[in-house]
Amino acid sequence: MSMKAQLYLDTSYRLAKVDKRMFGAFIEHLGRGIYTGIYEPEHPLADQDGFRRDVAELVRELGVPVIRYPGGNFVSAYNWEDGVGPVEKRPTKLDLAWRVIETNQVGTNEFASWARRVGSEVMMAVNLGTRGIDAAMNLVEYANHRGGSYWSDLRREHGYAEPHGIKMWCLGNEMDGPWQIGHKTAEEYGRLAAEAARAMRKVDPAIELVVCGSSHRDMPTFPEWEVTVLDHTYDLVDYISMHQYVGNRENDLGYFLAQTEGVDQYIRSVKATCDYIKAKKRTAKVMNISFDEWNVWYHSNETDRYVEPWSFAPPLLEDVYNLADALVVGLYLITLLKHADRVKIACMAQLVNVIAPIMTRKGGGVWRQTTFYPFHHVSRYGRGTVLQTILDSPTYDSREYTDVKLVNAAVVLSDDETELTVFAVNRDQESDITLECCFSSAGGMEVIEHIVLENGDVMATNTEEHPDKVVPHSQGRSVMKSDRLVAEMPALSWHVIRMKRR
Ligand code: AHR
Repeated sequence: MSMKAQLYLDTSYRLAKVDKRMFGAFIEHLGRGIYTGIYEPEHPLADQDGFRRDVAELVRELGVPVIRYPGGNFVSAYNWEDGVGPVEKRPTKLDLAWRVIETNQVGTNEFASWARRVGSEVMMAVNLGTRGIDAAMNLVEYANHRGGSYWSDLRREHGYAEPHGIKMWCLGNEMDGPWQIGHKTAEEYGRLAAEAARAMRKVDPAIELVVCGSSHRDMPTFPEWEVTVLDHTYDLVDYISMHQYVGNRENDLGYFLAQTEGVDQYIRSVKATCDYIKAKKRTAKVMNISFDEWNVWYHSNETDRYVEPWSFAPPLLEDVYNLADALVVGLYLITLLKHADRVKIACMAQLVNVIAPIMTRKGGGVWRQTTFYPFHHVSRYGRGTVLQTILDSPTYDSREYTDVKLVNAAVVLSDDETELTVFAVNRDQESDITLECCFSSAGGMEVIEHIVLENGDVMATNTEEHPDKVVPHSQGRSVMKSDRLVAEMPALSWHVIRMKRR
């Protein structure tokens, strides 16, 4: 007999409205993210500003309302002033974070203009590693002040009469990490972040601020870092950041697919830590989460060790993703949706070439990796309200995690309340599972599309030569049976089941 999972839902049991910024991404000055990624003036498809039109088109298609920039580790030794003004006068510098050459051909203005063209807002990080309050507040003035002051007039002189109006700002990057240039203790960072926040907000009171949480859940200073940093900054910032990458380093698929359970636990712990400070401060303010680096990252770890130092735009972190990775990305998105009450911003790291859903070849083509698809689906159909659901599923045990549900799922009700979308993954490596969705008003619903991402080979990848090896199809098998939806989920597959009120 085939296995069965059951999902119980009612459209009046709602968790939270999804903030569209949950579908953000990240572009760092790293490897070929910028140079020969989004920007390649010599490419036949480059626009008048040197940005590739074919890449911009795929970024638009993916649907990323916000893009974090310019780092990442890079930002902790970056002088933003090097990246503005006449391009021919910009200095070529050593990027100490990635040990490469940075030519500064792209900087704040070029990136902000490009982001607007692809339909995204910029989420800007400031350098709190080698620099501090002065550089941070000057950048806010340069980017957001209308004119009539030194830094805003400098932007106008540089050819940008209108301010960029950047709303979201990150107070540094992963400052708890010893690998970070200008790494700080929680006490040092908490004080600096608080003072930088005060100054930046004086320049532009409309900005939103993200303070650095831990770099990942296994950091020895987690969650003490959050406690100390929030003690200094709770009233001054809007979000605390979370970062977490997962990978199949052990070549253990069951364990790999279970790793989003760890992400779920990590989010619960960060929420609890924020609420501890909330209680301690006797405040009504709720600290939200900006999960501004998440993804699968492991394929390129070994080859990256052999990259020649001090080269320009070398291939770094160029993970080639397979179907298993796409399933984990789907599971990651389901996990984030289930925490939509507190996770308001999330950035898939990264966007182009660097652990990315979009890949390019210098002078050549652009293609979608397997991970492009689940992200695209959730960004497109996951905007609305996440429902509170009860999920009954057969389980399995893996290393580190027990009782892992073979099926994981989240349900989103569209803003106009006419569409319901189920996002689901079957983690089982051998068996198909029947998913039954039992809901109160099923009589009035019909399935309008059942998208499936599957492949006989879980290791299958997309390449420039074979870009369509792993692509979704809309032949998913689901039927509406009076009060329930019955959907078939083949082993190792991703599903988007869209229903509409009749
Ligand atoms: O996204 C790659 C790197 O991962 C970022 O630069 C850093 O913030 C994180 O450790």
